[in-house]
Amino acid sequence: MFGTALPTVTTAIPGPRSRAWVGRLADRECPAITARRARRAAEIGAADTDPIVWAEALGSNVRDVDGNVFVDLTAGFGVAAVGHRNARVVEAVAAQSGVLVHAMGDAFPDPRRIELMEALCARTGLERVILGSSGSDAIDAAVKTAVVATGRSRIAAFDGGYHGLAFGPLAALGYLRPTMREPFAGLLGTHVSWSAYGGELPDLHGVAAVIVEPVQGRGGMRAPPAGWLRALHEHARAAGALVIHDEIFSGCGRTGPFLAADVQPELLCLGKALGGGFPVSACLGSAAVMDAWQASTGAAIHTQTFLGHPVGCAAALAALDELDRLAPAVAERSSHLRAALGAVPGVAAISGRGLMLGVHVPNALQATHDLLHRGYLVLPCGERAEALGVTPPYDLTAAQADGFVAALADVLQCPR
Ligand SMILES: Cc1ncc(COP(=O)(O)O)c(C=O)c1O
Repeated sequence: MFGTALPTVTTAIPGPRSRAWVGRLADRECPAITARRARRAAEIGAADTDPIVWAEALGSNVRDVDGNVFVDLTAGFGVAAVGHRNARVVEAVAAQSGVLVHAMGDAFPDPRRIELMEALCARTGLERVILGSSGSDAIDAAVKTAVVATGRSRIAAFDGGYHGLAFGPLAALGYLRPTMREPFAGLLGTHVSWSAYGGELPDLHGVAAVIVEPVQGRGGMRAPPAGWLRALHEHARAAGALVIHDEIFSGCGRTGPFLAADVQPELLCLGKALGGGFPVSACLGSAAVMDAWQASTGAAIHTQTFLGHPVGCAAALAALDELDRLAPAVAERSSHLRAALGAVPGVAAISGRGLMLGVHVPNALQATHDLLHRGYLVLPCGERAEALGVTPPYDLTAAQADGFVAALADVLQCPR
């Protein structure tokens, strides 16, 4: 059944319809976005590296425009934690769309926005919220709040850290800095310093905030050594610096509990899975830190046209209920995958936590390509693409997990 099915690949990959769409895409989309394909083609010497074009998705399955069915081990960048096109989310979106699609950001709120903020505070123990649409929005809000609350403007970040590509998060980006950050360095100021993730604690003298992913995602699905995050908090407190947890990837149950960190930060960013597929993000903070903004006196100094979008908030409220239902399965699915993947010849190591796993293989780009041809979607992760990122929907079936492990074993034994 589509949603819990194993792959069915009946055309060349990409198929003729995907190829035709990608031809049109290449004519119109900024080449910075599609050029990745050329790099992969050069790196693995394959000609057929165009993407498949998605037509439909449900649960852990994606159907492309050629009718091939795939198992999505990426959950669409970690977004579809509750499954693609989750029935409860779709229902909530339909109901909300029938009454109010758009309210007015900071001017006129609506009930769903208020309910979502209450639900997020109840789950995290934090007291104030700034909603946004993208992960980058949430990071922008957190960095600005840290500057307002401390009166300082330096930020500390970590090598391999990925926080988004808008200017705020880009300033703190520790991932592929030469290609992603340096072209814009002139616009970013120089007030950021980076340290080794999980290593020696950074110098936080005069720093407004240190921003950290409790488990690094794009940087390679890496968890820091036990106790490191807590030590970073103590170190920050001693220096008068705030701690921003970027749980945009690791949050919403991806590692099992709602949040990956077992220590509470002053500022917390959520996104990706929060909206159940809708673009919704949140920056949460303690009252002491957030209230440094002071009450709005008219023109809001931090807002957006689509802030707290009613349909997005309705989707997120349904997604939170579904996360509560599905997150308990994460630990079991994770240990099943870890054990099975660890036994595959050619797998050097498995990093990460919960359903945020990095499978370290000799040539992750090649393996990604070969797995796609067998109907399994994964993305490479790590600055040198050293691992396969495995971040599936939480209700990936045991048969889908085993099918993926068998396909990986096959791919590592005989690359195409
Ligand atoms: C940890 C983390 N933070 C922030 C972001 C940026 O989110 P967005 O792409 O929605 O701006 C991402 C995106 O991958 C992420 O993984």
